[in-house]
Amino acid sequence: MANRIKWQILAALALVGIACASLAAWSQRSAFANGGRSSLVATVAAASPDDAAAQSAFERAYPVFVSPRCQNCHPSGDAPLQGDDSHVHTQDVKRGTDGHGVYGMRCQTCHQDANLPGANMPPGNPKWGLPSPQMKMIFVGRTAGELCRQLKDPKQNGGRNLAQILTHVATDDLVGWGWNPGDGRTLPPLNRPDFVAAMQEWVNDGAACPK
Ligand code: HEC
Ligand code: HEC
Repeated sequence: MANRIKWQILAALALVGIACASLAAWSQRSAFANGGRSSLVATVAAASPDDAAAQSAFERAYPVFVSPRCQNCHPSGDAPLQGDDSHVHTQDVKRGTDGHGVYGMRCQTCHQDANLPGANMPPGNPKWGLPSPQMKMIFVGRTAGELCRQLKDPKQNGGRNLAQILTHVATDDLVGWGWNPGDGRTLPPLNRPDFVAAMQEWVNDGAACPK
C-alpha cells in the first residue's frame, strides 16, 4: 500500500512537471486555445489514476521490450544474445565489469560507431554494450507484470523516476538503434512513436502494473 501511494505521488510530481511545460507552451499561444485546454484536462485526469488503462497501455508496450532487438542486450546471463532467435553471442563474448566486454574481447573491437553494411555484420553505436553486472536490467523471461515492476524500481532501473524512464525510451540512441538495426534484422512490433505513446499513457494513467 505504502509503495502504491509513493508511486502515485511520483506520478503526480512527474505530471506537475509536464503541466508546467504545457502551461509555458500554452501561455505562448492564444489564451483559450484548444491545445492548452486539452493539456489541462490531461493533468486533471491524471490526478485520479486509472489502473486498468495504465495496465493495458503497458501491455501494449511490453512486446517491444522482449523483442529480439531489445532483449538481446538485456539478457539474464552474462553474455549478449544475437539474432531473431536470441541465441547466445558467439565467440564467448561476455558482459565484463563495465558491460563493454572483457579484456581482449571488448565490444568496440567489432562493434563500430555505426552499423556495418551487409547481413551478419556487427551492428554499431558509440555506446554499444550491456548494462553493468551491478544492475543488469534483465528483460529476457520477464512477464509484463515483472518487467513493469522492475522498470519502476529505481534500485533496478538505474535510479530513474518515471519521467526519466520516459525520456530514456523516447530519446536514448541505443533504444533508437532498435528501429535502425542494420541489414537483415527485424524491427520491434510497434514503431517508436507508438511505443513511446503507450509508455506515456502508462505514466499519465498512474503507471499501475499488470498482475
Ligand atoms: C569478435 C567480434 C565481436 C565482439 C568482441 C562482440 N561482438 Fe557483438 N556481434 C558481432 C557480430 C559479427 C554480430 C552480428 C551477428 C549476426 O548478425 O549474425 C554481433 C551481434 C551482436 C548483437 C545482436 C544484435 C541483434 O539484435 O541481433 C548484440 C546484442 C551484440 N552483438 C552485443 C555485443 C556486446 C554487448 C559485446 C561486448 C560485451 C559484443 N557484442 C562483442 C561481433 C562481436
Ligand atoms: C546495444 C545494447 C542495447 C540495446 C540494443 C538496447 N539497450 Fe536498453 N540499455 C542498454 C544499456 C547498456 C542500458 C543501461 C544504460 C543506462 O542506464 O543508461 C540500457 C538501459 C535501458 C533502459 C533503462 C532502465 C531499465 O530499467 O531498463 C530501458 C528502459 C531500456 N534500456 C530499454 C530498451 C529498449 C526498449 C530497447 C529496444 C528498442 C533497448 N533498450 C535496446 C543497452 C541496450
